[in-house]
Amino acid sequence: MAMGNTFSESNLEILIDARQIASRIRELGEQISNDYRGRTPHLVGVLMGAWVFMADLIRNLSVEATVDFLGIQSYLAGTTSSGEVKITKDLDLSIAGRDVLVVEDILDTGRTYRYLQSVLSAHHPNSVKLVALLDKTARRVVPVEADYVGFPIPDVFVVGYGLDYNQQFRRLPEVRILGEIGRSGDRVIG
Ligand code: IMP
Ligand code: MG
Repeated sequence: MAMGNTFSESNLEILIDARQIASRIRELGEQISNDYRGRTPHLVGVLMGAWVFMADLIRNLSVEATVDFLGIQSYLAGTTSSGEVKITKDLDLSIAGRDVLVVEDILDTGRTYRYLQSVLSAHHPNSVKLVALLDKTARRVVPVEADYVGFPIPDVFVVGYGLDYNQQFRRLPEVRILGEIGRSGDRVIG
């Protein structure tokens, strides 16, 4: 769908507002800091959706943390989700012996994270955990779980706070519902 075919954000219902997001991320930051006390977690942000969340999360950590990014594109073909995942940007730093904390915007079918688990573990990290801001539990196809979840959400397509629909709406400070529209048609998501 072309960028010109736009939805107006004022028509999109707010699911989670900016204050709720900020306060939940403070809690996650505290929990993660406690769990990793004495260690230096290596945050691996999954591009593109996760960078806004990661920027807020890292500022709520009281343990030192290092960062890297991995570029991923998941291709969904309408209702028949192909499950095809492609790396578009590799890690820059070694994760051997590191305590990797994957930072995701949203856990949906679980295919991306399952794929990441196998790619990352091949590089011998000390541990791999996942923090996902949002979790669509009802959509899971692969039985994976996040170690830390910001908000479980229903089966709706959401945008904002880094999440996009065809590159739109990443800038919104809250999470809004795009509805069913986002799931129709072929698209590339990240
Ligand atoms: P998976 O289905 O768990 O592999 O999710 C893969 C990716 O799909 C997520 O990291 C997001 O980038 C994207 N995604 C899933 N659901 C949504 C949504 O509701 N809005 C925007 N992106 C989404
Ligand atoms: Mg993603």
